[in-house]
Amino acid sequence: MERLYPENQWVTPSELFKPFYGYTIASFMVNQMENRGIRNLRVVEIGPGTGTLADSMLDFYKNYSLDLYRNCEYVFVEISSQLAEKCEKLMKERHRKLYDENRIKIYNCSIFDDFLMGKKDKIDEHCFVVGMEILDNMPHDRLIIDNQGTKETNQNFDYQLQSIIELSQNPQGIETLKEVFEPVGSDPLIVEFLELLKSMPLPDHVTLNNKM
Ligand SMILES: C[S@@+](CC[C@H](N)C(=O)[O-])C[C@H]1O[C@@H](n2cnc3c(N)ncnc32)[C@H](O)[C@@H]1O
Repeated sequence: MERLYPENQWVTPSELFKPFYGYTIASFMVNQMENRGIRNLRVVEIGPGTGTLADSMLDFYKNYSLDLYRNCEYVFVEISSQLAEKCEKLMKERHRKLYDENRIKIYNCSIFDDFLMGKKDKIDEHCFVVGMEILDNMPHDRLIIDNQGTKETNQNFDYQLQSIIELSQNPQGIETLKEVFEPVGSDPLIVEFLELLKSMPLPDHVTLNNKM
């Protein structure tokens, strides 16, 4: 691993098993399209990173059916500007014609951005939505019950602290991120989540932890 990825030894399956990981997913999609009589291939990929998965998938389509490849539409939504750039570069290098024909589109924004909602090229027809290694990149919060340990009354969890990330500058003027804790209450999503949590039945076999 160290030799293969000297800069970054943390890699995803898409990178590690390329091109076969992408081939497998593309093959599954083709299968689905044939079974359901879908003619046009449309894909929205959330958080493509460098675009490795899409590159493998597009290669698969090219070898499987040139028509399918030439007529496909592939939309990327990537929150990181550096990764969106890398993805765009890879697509230009490897799938130039699709890129030039606007069949490949790269939006540098979050999948939750309102900006996407108003897009006039919104896809109403069948489309595959791909998001690899993405959900675990979207935690909203960290909650703590108390400083001592478990504090649990029946099914009511007494979460007391929520974490927020503070942006500050160190003496050298470099921006740093720091996790700090504050009492639960200021964040409506956390409050709503806790209300829901309290109303949930708990299976007997679930072991309760004091932290999440
Ligand atoms: C762990 S990487 C996975 C990259 C790629 N899918 C793969 O499997 O190799 C997670 C990717 O999701 C992107 N991401 C995280 N939150 C996002 C959001 N809200 N909208 C769009 N992309 C997001 C990150 O910038 C990153 O490129």
